[in-house]
Amino acid sequence: MSSSSSNSFIHFKTITNEKIKTLFSFADQIRLNSDSHLSFSKFKSSGKTGALLFFEASTRTRMSFETASARLGIYPLRLDGKAGSSLEKGETLEDTVLNVAAMDPSFLVIRCGDDLDLEEISKKLTVPILNAGWGKKGHPTQALLDAYTIRRHFGSCEGQRLLIVGDVRHSRVAASHFELCQKLGYEVAICGPQEFLPQDFSGKVFESLTPALEWSTAAMALRVQFERHSTKSSPASSTEVSVESALNNYRLQYGFTKSNLVHLSSQAIIMHPGPINQGTELDSEVLSDPRCKVLDQVSHGVLVRQALIYSILEGKL
Ligand code: NCD
Repeated sequence: MSSSSSNSFIHFKTITNEKIKTLFSFADQIRLNSDSHLSFSKFKSSGKTGALLFFEASTRTRMSFETASARLGIYPLRLDGKAGSSLEKGETLEDTVLNVAAMDPSFLVIRCGDDLDLEEISKKLTVPILNAGWGKKGHPTQALLDAYTIRRHFGSCEGQRLLIVGDVRHSRVAASHFELCQKLGYEVAICGPQEFLPQDFSGKVFESLTPALEWSTAAMALRVQFERHSTKSSPASSTEVSVESALNNYRLQYGFTKSNLVHLSSQAIIMHPGPINQGTELDSEVLSDPRCKVLDQVSHGVLVRQALIYSILEGKL
C-alpha cells in the first residue's frame, strides 16, 4: 500500500480506488452488522495487541483507534504524550517506536510531528504502521472517514465538491484530501485568508466564502493550527486584544455561521474534523443545523478504522 516494506498505511500514493471501495464496503458491513462471511470478530481471544503511540494531543483519533481495536478483539496499548514515559528521560521517539515494536504488537498506530519520519521507520520494521496524523504531511484515516461520510450522504464521492475553508496550509487533513480526491473522483476547492492557503495548490481557490459555499456540496471548516505556525500567537500574550480581534475578523469572513450558511444548498453537508474552536471557524448553533455531520464523522471514524485494521491484518489492502 505504501512504499515502505511492511503493510503500512502512511499515505494514499499507492493504494487503488478499488481497495478504498472495498474498505468502505467493510465499514458498511460492520455498521449493518452483516458479518456472516467476513468474521470481523475473528481476533477475539487471539491475544493480539495493537500499540497506539500518540506523541501529539488527540481525543477523537486516539479513542477511535482504541474503540476500533477493542471491537475487533485486539487489546489496545496506549502511550499518550511524553508524560510518564521514558521520553521524559531523553529517549528518542525512534527508540520508543522500535522498543514498542519489539513487544510484537499486530500494528503500530502513530501520531507525531515532523521530528519522526514514518516512512523511514516503517522500512526498519515488519509490523504495519498506521498514520494517525503526521505533522502537516497527512492524516489519511481522517480523510477516509470524511469521504465515507460524503459517500453515505450522497451514495458516492464521485462528482461531489468538497470545500475546505481556513488554515489549509498547515492542515494534514487537507493534505490527505488532496491525495484521496484523485482516487475517489471528488473535487476539492479551498477558501481562506491568503496566508493560510498553500502556494502550490492547482485546484479552485475562492477568495470569499459566499461563492465557495454556493459551489460546494460538502463544506468543511478547519481549526486554525496555531501550533504549526512559525510565529506563535497565544490569546494569553500581550497581543491578546489583537489576536481576539483577528479571530473575530476571521469568523466574520470565513467562519461557518447561521447567516452565511444560507448560501450552502439544503442538500449539502457541513463537516469539521474536530476539535472545533466554537465561535471562530464554526458557531455553536451550526452544530444543530440538520446538514451538520460532525458527530457522524466521529462515528464513521470507528467503522473506517475497524475496517482498515481488519484489512491490514488480513492482507486485504
Ligand atoms: C485534526 C488533526 O489532528 O490533524 N484532528 C483530528 O484528528 N480529528 C485536525 C486538528 O487538529 O485541527
